[in-house]
Amino acid sequence: MCGIVGYIGKNLVSPILLNGLKRLEYRGYDSAGISILQNGQILTLKKAGKVAELESLLNHNDYDSKIGIAHTRWATHGEPNDLNAHPHFDNSKEISLVHNGIIENYASLKKNLTERGYYFESDTDTEVLAVLVGHFYIKTKDLCESVRLALNEVTGTFGIVVMSSNEPNTLVAARRGSPMVFGIGDDEFIIASDASAIIAHTKQVIYINDNEMIIVNQNTFHTKTIYNEKTDNKIHEIEFDLTQIEKGGFPHFMLKEIYEQPITFKDSFRGRIIQKEGDIKLGGLRSVAENLRNSKRIIITACGTSWHSSLVGEYLIENFANIPVEVEYASEFRYRNPVINKDDIVFAVSQSGETADTLAAIKEAKQKGAIVLGIVNQVGSSIARETDAGMYIHAGPEIGVASTKAFTSQVSAFILIALYLGRMKNISKSDGMRYCNEISLIPDKMQSILDNAEAIKEIAKHYSYANNFLYLGRGYNFPVALEGALKLKEISYIHAEGYPAAEMKHGPIALIDENMPVVIIATKDEIYEKVISNIEEVRARGGKVIAIATEGDENIKNYANHIFYIPETLSFLTPLLAVIPLQLLSYYMAVELGRDVDQPRNLAKSVTVE
Ligand code: M6R
Repeated sequence: MCGIVGYIGKNLVSPILLNGLKRLEYRGYDSAGISILQNGQILTLKKAGKVAELESLLNHNDYDSKIGIAHTRWATHGEPNDLNAHPHFDNSKEISLVHNGIIENYASLKKNLTERGYYFESDTDTEVLAVLVGHFYIKTKDLCESVRLALNEVTGTFGIVVMSSNEPNTLVAARRGSPMVFGIGDDEFIIASDASAIIAHTKQVIYINDNEMIIVNQNTFHTKTIYNEKTDNKIHEIEFDLTQIEKGGFPHFMLKEIYEQPITFKDSFRGRIIQKEGDIKLGGLRSVAENLRNSKRIIITACGTSWHSSLVGEYLIENFANIPVEVEYASEFRYRNPVINKDDIVFAVSQSGETADTLAAIKEAKQKGAIVLGIVNQVGSSIARETDAGMYIHAGPEIGVASTKAFTSQVSAFILIALYLGRMKNISKSDGMRYCNEISLIPDKMQSILDNAEAIKEIAKHYSYANNFLYLGRGYNFPVALEGALKLKEISYIHAEGYPAAEMKHGPIALIDENMPVVIIATKDEIYEKVISNIEEVRARGGKVIAIATEGDENIKNYANHIFYIPETLSFLTPLLAVIPLQLLSYYMAVELGRDVDQPRNLAKSVTVE
């Protein structure tokens, strides 16, 4: 949540900061602002709305400055107006600060500072931190030390970058619980809340750790903890290219990412399938293979789309590895004193690797003595580093706020884990080979669905009048129904509910009338006949049925108003295919309704606050 970028180096800073903000806008887009050093003073411009509003304020003015900080906001404290936009200042207006996270004790700090005669102009927790830094600066006359002392007073989370007109060649940054990446360029340094704002300048980065600060001057930098201990950092190389975070000719990132799935899915199992052995190789889990094999229970914790893929994971692991699995919302897990036994293994699943609820759940599980494994997309992210071992899903950067390709790659990870454990236990080599072969056919099948996207576009046009949708699925496709409903809610703002198809008759059936489109995943498998009965129940009440069916199924034409066919595959692989038309349906529906697909209202890509 919130995008932060800071720059110091050889180039004019304002276009660099603006471009950085554009790359980070998917993290929050309520307001944006910039502070640069101009003629020895801090010049700040900030504006409610998207980065484009700030851009017009800058009006192509390339200020003669080579140091600055900038921010795009997802509001937590205080409405998204000009005043609450970042950067914020201390009372002397000599110190400017951008912040991602939440200062939990801001109210008591504010009271204390007010009693000492300080004043506040905004409703934000961030301004309290800026004023506190200014308070310490009066005594120390040292920006780094003032930031350090202020951070020692703070409870909560922060990723900050600070500058001062008194130290025109210095940026100070720090983090706790909010990501911060430091890029080392050629005579320039750029610091940002994620690597996408850095990649245009350099691929050499340092991931700042919790409670660590980085002090950056024109040509040098050093790190230490906020407790004044020395730290050592490894330089990493960013694994993606600039082209991967551009739209590449697509009108929206979401559509681009939907279309990337044949490739991203292939990347998720590349090098991990041993076809001739019918077996799976997972290097990242090798160190815990025995723990996994002997585990008595697996708990999976995640949020949103990652929670849905985890539900598919539950079905897969129970089916193939015969280990009981529980899937928990990360936000609930932490607060309900979960029982974790000695031989339990906890998986944390996250695209961004920065979701605060999931990070908190990991800490809770670790404190209770569990081994915690990560299934993560973003390389070097907090969750990847907090977990004991794990696997990357290799989906590449996901920019669209609605998660799409991460879902199929996460499901892929669970398929691999389930088969890996299953082969250790009871899956035969010949079954293993058959499954591996079917997996390798999935990318082409995904492509054939995408080649037929026009048909979904037509369906979206037909139903764009509807205010409510029901999504139904059974077995492996129940989580897909949940995911389809979430996608529709997120980007088209249409109310949608996902249900296990058979559960409909226990309540939601009361909602069905001629105005209620019902999307049903009715692929040919062991429970096909049961799903047909559920469709009958919808039809009997006048509901309109959009069926996702298996190619060649003529029978379904007797029941559905609209049909979208997907290629046949093994039932445990159907979520990989069935989800794609649902992603496309929500996309085309949102476009039809004129919604902002990549930046839907009230949302942000990664939720780094609890
Ligand atoms: O980065 P994560 O996978 O941890 O994010 C979890 C959710 O915030 C995320 O899936 C969210 O629900 C998406 N907007 C779904 O499209």
